[in-house]
Amino acid sequence: MKTRLLHCAFVLLSAVSATPLLADEQLDLGKTVYMTLCVACHQPTGAGLPPVFPTLVQTEYVSGSTERFAAMILKGVMGPITVKDMVFNNMMPPQEALLTDEKIAAAITYVRASFGNTYPAVPAAVVTSARSKFADRKTSWTEAELKAWPDAQASK
Ligand code: HEC
Repeated sequence: MKTRLLHCAFVLLSAVSATPLLADEQLDLGKTVYMTLCVACHQPTGAGLPPVFPTLVQTEYVSGSTERFAAMILKGVMGPITVKDMVFNNMMPPQEALLTDEKIAAAITYVRASFGNTYPAVPAAVVTSARSKFADRKTSWTEAELKAWPDAQASK
């Protein structure tokens, strides 16, 4: 009886989720990373805590270049930086020593699919390539560098 109930629940759940398992797994992992790490500053809703921590809801950095997004998580960001017409002058710490490419890609994918965002998923290869491209870089990004990113507007 118990087994049958579990089976029913499984069939129901499978019917409800339309996305393939791999995408679900990436979102699950991304949620775990977000809720463990990013949440302290950007909050469970992604709204941040202005004027200290910026929102992740439909900002140019969340919707734009995924290489840039990966680079920001790897190396961190130093203010001042304007996000949605508000100036933030704080520090986002680098995560390159703490998170794998898979985890960073998952966190980015989770953010791009949550909080009212509907941007495409990001494969770990984007993070792997950014990690090797900027391997020698020791400092966090400035706004001027982020604004001048070659494919700043691109969403992949
Ligand atoms: C210790 C606090 C902290 C943590 C942890 C943190 N951030 Fe940030 N983040 C910031 C701050 C502060 C800024 C603004 C830059 C500044 O003031 O230096 C920022 C900026 C950003 C931006 C660019 C601006 C925007 O709002 O679009 C994105 C995207 C972002 N963070 C995503 C993340 C993600 C994803 C994680 C988790 C992997 C994360 N951050 C972890 C503090 C943090």
